[in-house]
Amino acid sequence: MFFKQFKVEGLGCYSYLIGCPKAGVACVVDPERHVENYLDVAQENGMRITDVFDTHLHADHITGSGELAAQAGATIHVHPAVEAKYPHEPVRDGQRFRFGSAEIEVIETPGHTPNSVSLAVTDHARSEDVQALLTGDLLFVGDVGRPDLAGEDLLEQQVRNLYDSIYGKLARFPDWTEVYPAHGEGSLCGKGMSAKPMTTLGFERRNNPLLNEMPFEEFHRIMTEGFQIRPDNFAVMVQKNRQGPALLSEAAAFTRLAPTQVEQALRDGVRLVDVRDQVAFGAAFLPSSINIGMRPNSVNWLGMAVKASSKIIIVADSEADAREAAFRFQRAGYDKLIGYLADGVCGWAMQGKRLDHLPQLTAESLKHVIEKYSDHVVLDVRTEAEWRDGHIDGALHMPVTDLIEAGLDLPKQRHITAVCSSGYRSNIAGSFLKSIGYEHVFSLIGGMPAWNAAAG
Ligand SMILES: [Fe+2]
Repeated sequence: MFFKQFKVEGLGCYSYLIGCPKAGVACVVDPERHVENYLDVAQENGMRITDVFDTHLHADHITGSGELAAQAGATIHVHPAVEAKYPHEPVRDGQRFRFGSAEIEVIETPGHTPNSVSLAVTDHARSEDVQALLTGDLLFVGDVGRPDLAGEDLLEQQVRNLYDSIYGKLARFPDWTEVYPAHGEGSLCGKGMSAKPMTTLGFERRNNPLLNEMPFEEFHRIMTEGFQIRPDNFAVMVQKNRQGPALLSEAAAFTRLAPTQVEQALRDGVRLVDVRDQVAFGAAFLPSSINIGMRPNSVNWLGMAVKASSKIIIVADSEADAREAAFRFQRAGYDKLIGYLADGVCGWAMQGKRLDHLPQLTAESLKHVIEKYSDHVVLDVRTEAEWRDGHIDGALHMPVTDLIEAGLDLPKQRHITAVCSSGYRSNIAGSFLKSIGYEHVFSLIGGMPAWNAAAG
């Protein structure tokens, strides 16, 4: 049997190519949208991708099943409760598929979503025992899937389903069964996932408290106790994944745009996303830009700050950076990436066009400012847990996600310094505040570690 795990850094998505080089056939489970890797590896190993499975209707990335159907002629398999609007074969509990020596059995395991399945993998070249479980977002390494993404009305039912799937449906598999999830560290589909890419059922039963004979009442309490943030674009991705996302080959070209073209686009309501680091952004940026620095998980921040339906122009240090950002944003359903600013911010400045800035205040300077101006607002945009761990006296607390959703109830003339744990989120918050008309906004460079070090 051929078995390979693929990972998308940042989003923490795992996908799998499983097949049999001898038989020359393979399937892909939970593919991401850029499918070249699967096709290349399959070809190198003499296999043709004939089938694709999605373990559930994904909310955090665009499925690549349609791409594989178009490019490899693969058949798509999903659970009927996905209500997929594209050509597919509905799977049912107990259904089996053969790819040479590899066999896949479908097990309905609702909980993360009502349409979740797990896939039991047997390598008949070695044994008749099930060797591995692809658990989708039911069971992760060190965590279980969040039950809230399918919507509040289904929450109670999904928590019950999650419990029954874990303790009932998986009960027949022995401890040594390997577990390969659809997500790992970085994903928003769970809370505390490990960076380790796989585990075994036995290890989780012993060391993951949620699997260790936990009574339902306690399981219920923990599972409903507070959820990870849910970026705005999750709902858009669910809708696109149900409908069948557009093929990348049909996407509009991502082109180099001269400053005059960018100006015209801005008048037409196009959004500017600046992917440079926080210091470069702070020094000079095109008015109304949102700063989403390039990080593995930057697309989740983009999902909170800019609607997936927006037309977007990217500002970056180089064409390569702009294209890399576009590539990553496509994974999360941003299909209206129209281009990047030619020659970057310097090129814009050389044509005498207006620039704004977000001063990067050092901890020392912020201290002086607070001492001198009693009405200066320190806006802490970290999470509740980070805030509880320690914060600047007199600061106002509003996590960046809430700020973007609700705005700020302060006069536009107030002087505000945004603070986070590094300067990354405070720049997102600062650029957002500037984009909605706050004039005097600053960002604490180095965040709370810098503040604490200066306090020394
Ligand atoms: Fe998921």
